[in-house]
Parts: sequence; structure tokens; C-alpha cells
Amino acid sequence: MTLKIIKYPAKILREKTKKVKDPLDPEIQKLITQMIETLREAKGLGLAAPQIGKSLRLCTVDYENNLYVLINPKIVSYSRNRVMMEEGCLSFPGKFFQIERPEKVKVRYLDEKGKSAKIKADGILARALQHEIDHLEGILVIDKTRKSKKIND
Ligand code: CO
Repeated sequence: MTLKIIKYPAKILREKTKKVKDPLDPEIQKLITQMIETLREAKGLGLAAPQIGKSLRLCTVDYENNLYVLINPKIVSYSRNRVMMEEGCLSFPGKFFQIERPEKVKVRYLDEKGKSAKIKADGILARALQHEIDHLEGILVIDKTRKSKKIND
């Protein structure tokens, strides 16, 4: 079953999410499955729990046939080098934003089995991870465009 994707300016997109207490809780496991189906149907790169109406520290990224389920993720380091890239967001359909962010990040999280995991990412994956983790803080692409240029709007 796919879920409805919540669009800006819904209030829930601005809330700071709560930590997932038990990744193996059947409700959480069901939510993960539904988020993956919803992300795939939308052909998106990433989806965060607030975007389907759940204020939880949980997001998914689907990049180059690798599916990442990130529970309670935290960015533990950023590269000093920053790059400009275009980003879209399923909560802003049809819009794209030029945003500058660190080129590389390291992220610690729990995977869908509740196991501790770590990713070192650059390029598009680093970009997607930063975007989704921002959602968990209630931060949206429009907040990142102050210095950057907003296009197609
Ligand atoms: Co988004």
C-alpha cells in the first residue's frame, strides 16, 4: 500500500521529529515497507517520514539500486568543500532548487533491522542524505536557497 505524500506548506513538514524507540516494532516495520513502496511509485530519490504524516526520525533513500533505510540518522562529519547542485523534493512537485551543500558526508544510523550502520557518501548520495536528514529537523529546500538561486518558480 502506498501512502499519500504531504505537500508544502503542511505544518508537519516543519516539526522536529521524534526518535524511533524500537526499530523492530511491527508498526515501524510496516511503515518502512509502505515508505519504500511510496518512494518507488513516486520515482523519488528519497522520502522522509514527515512527508507521509509521521513525525519520526526515519527516512529512505533509493539510489543506483541501493535502498537505504535510515533510522535515527545523524550526520557525523561534513567535508569542508561545498558544491552547488539542483534538488527536487516530493513535497514540492515539479520544482527544482539550486542549493549549495557540503560535497561529502558521513552518516551513522540504524538500518531496518535495528543494526548500527555507517555510510560515507559523496555526489548525489551525499546530497540525498543531507536533504532527507534535513526533513527530520523540519528543514526544507526553500530554507537553503537564501544564498542559492531558486529556479523554475
Ligand atoms: Co524532500
